[in-house]
Amino acid sequence: VKKCSLTGRWVNDLGSNMTIMTMKSNGDFAGIYYTAVSATTKKIERSPLLGSQHQPYLLKQPTFGFTVHWTFSDSITVFTGQCFVDEDGKEVLKTMWLLRSHADKPIDDWKATLVGYNEFKRLESPME
Ligand code: BTN
Repeated sequence: VKKCSLTGRWVNDLGSNMTIMTMKSNGDFAGIYYTAVSATTKKIERSPLLGSQHQPYLLKQPTFGFTVHWTFSDSITVFTGQCFVDEDGKEVLKTMWLLRSHADKPIDDWKATLVGYNEFKRLESPME
């Protein structure tokens, strides 16, 4: 059976891109996130991500989580989800995320966290 591994290039329903470049045997991974949108007016820049997935060489449809440390804003996003293989053998990452923005004072904490859903598909190059 085809197994889902997060290594490679992905694009989501917002047009954001991510590349997962390193995958350790214990499931720790690292990559780069290039968001298509921002909650800020800052100029968007590529930002590093760090995550973990369950048993990358054993499971068909592993669960995972990762953190994106935005370099151009003072926010953090955490994503968690699962990699599924659909009927056509195509991989899809179904995720939910929390985007934490910086609150200047505790009274503003209530409005500092956004929640959402994203689906990622593998970016396949014509060579593959
Ligand atoms: C910021 O606005 O402070 C940083 C960029 C946040 C982009 C968010 S993260 C969740 C959602 N999914 C994406 O691909 N981009 C947005």
